[in-house]
Amino acid sequence: MVNEKILVIDFGGQYNQLVARRVRECNVYCEIYSYKTPLDKIKAMNPKGIILTGGPDSVYREGAATCAPEFFDIGVPILGLCYGAQLMHQVLGGKVESAPVREYGKTKTYIDGAKDTLFKEVEDETVVWMSHFDYISKMAPGFEAIAHTDDCPVAACQNVERSLYGIQFHPEVLHTAKGKEILYNFVRGICNCSGSWRMDSFVEESIKAIREKVGDGKVLLALSGGVDSSVAAGLLSRAIGKQLTCVFVDHGLLRKDEGDEVEHVFGEGGQFDLNFIRVNAQERYYSKLAGVTEPERKRKIIGEEFIRVFEEEAKKIGAVDFLAQGTIYPDVVESGLGGESAVIKSHHNVGGLPDFVDFKEIIEPLRDLFKDEVRKAGLELGIPEYLVFRQPFPGPGLGIRIIGEVTDEKVKIVQDADWIYRSEVETAAKEYKDANGVDPAWMPNQYFAALTNMRSVGVMGDERTYDYAVALRAVKTIDFMTAESAEIPFEILQRVMSRIINEVKGVNRVLYDLTSKPPGTIEME
Ligand code: XMP
Repeated sequence: MVNEKILVIDFGGQYNQLVARRVRECNVYCEIYSYKTPLDKIKAMNPKGIILTGGPDSVYREGAATCAPEFFDIGVPILGLCYGAQLMHQVLGGKVESAPVREYGKTKTYIDGAKDTLFKEVEDETVVWMSHFDYISKMAPGFEAIAHTDDCPVAACQNVERSLYGIQFHPEVLHTAKGKEILYNFVRGICNCSGSWRMDSFVEESIKAIREKVGDGKVLLALSGGVDSSVAAGLLSRAIGKQLTCVFVDHGLLRKDEGDEVEHVFGEGGQFDLNFIRVNAQERYYSKLAGVTEPERKRKIIGEEFIRVFEEEAKKIGAVDFLAQGTIYPDVVESGLGGESAVIKSHHNVGGLPDFVDFKEIIEPLRDLFKDEVRKAGLELGIPEYLVFRQPFPGPGLGIRIIGEVTDEKVKIVQDADWIYRSEVETAAKEYKDANGVDPAWMPNQYFAALTNMRSVGVMGDERTYDYAVALRAVKTIDFMTAESAEIPFEILQRVMSRIINEVKGVNRVLYDLTSKPPGTIEME
């Protein structure tokens, strides 16, 4: 399906997904691979060009992520960004050292060359986003500098003969005024990609491919109501209609009204042609979770119970030909760091295939897409915006937003508090956007209410109360690996606080969680 691709080689930088996304915005297909990927494998993929990403380390530190000199002989254009550029020079005989002046943030940069290639349509003076403490103090043989800043003599460089390019700054970040143009110049100009990859053709092509693969077979999908499985369901339904059965397990740990929303879209009378089975397993879950307080244990119980419920349903359906999954690209990426980092929480249920379902083959129609692309596909399929733009919601649901034991009473409290919080933030954000045309700077990437396991004394009317404290969490994050607490305006928080106290029985205190990640995590368990 895809014949032209750019490879992004991941050295662990925080903007790597963004690099891939920018390449796709040039209508060029792109995949991310770890820097540990063997050279043969990279060559076999026959890329039109390669981008080396930034990374958190120093290239000269022993044990730092690196690559062999032969890497630069592959014979296709290579662009190194930040760490990637430094590595190129270090490996090819230049020198990288700690910079006398570290650069961080928007930086004025002077373009000295490459005006017809990498810096086409870039003014002589432009603003870029810098984030480095090392610099290229001596370029490798054959390179020339093509940009500098007041503190950095090699802000960009090239070796035209070998088609190697290096940029000290981050063109993928929007703060780099001409970043998109620079990446476009590399991908479409220097690598000569035609730019024929389109999102809207994705839906059509996938439907065709699914029909061919499935024939008149039966497909089973576990629908969680999350973005990925919903889009997979929509796509499969358009392709094969009633040959698809979706099992939606309502574990009673969903957000307020969420189960009904999923049923409304995918159930009988909804807009999709498929067999929809909703299993109301709330009571089962609550009784399994009774008395359990340890977070990982809760996760395990919720995961295992899901398997049991799904297994029971699968048995009723009998043998199927395909088991469908909403796996998306970031789930399968072999990230350089991801492979090595410690397991903090047993996330993402990415394990082997379930052996309790009798199926012949797995089908993963979203495997090549990034999250925003999955959303675009969802909109094209006609899935409502409130589902498509849902914020991330963990598999164990409210089970890990209730600290300590989960009970139906606590679920109700956290659902109601969370609903108030979300509606107030959504309304305020919409008002801001209507007035200013952009999202407010404080707009969180993920936010929710959680129930602390703490009760404290308060006073309401003339009565002494002894009730729960609700914690509000809101974070800004790009990759969900690190996060900052979002600065939601105080008046919004106060409104949320007062509504929660007044409207949610059993709560007499509202706290705002200021912790960043690390040291905190986004969820509280
Ligand atoms: P943490 O809490 O680890 O969360 O900072 C990072 C992102 O992962 C989500 N998350 C989970 N997702 N199962 C999931 O499917 C889990 O057990 C789980 N724990 C956290 C969290 O919502 C955030 O987006």
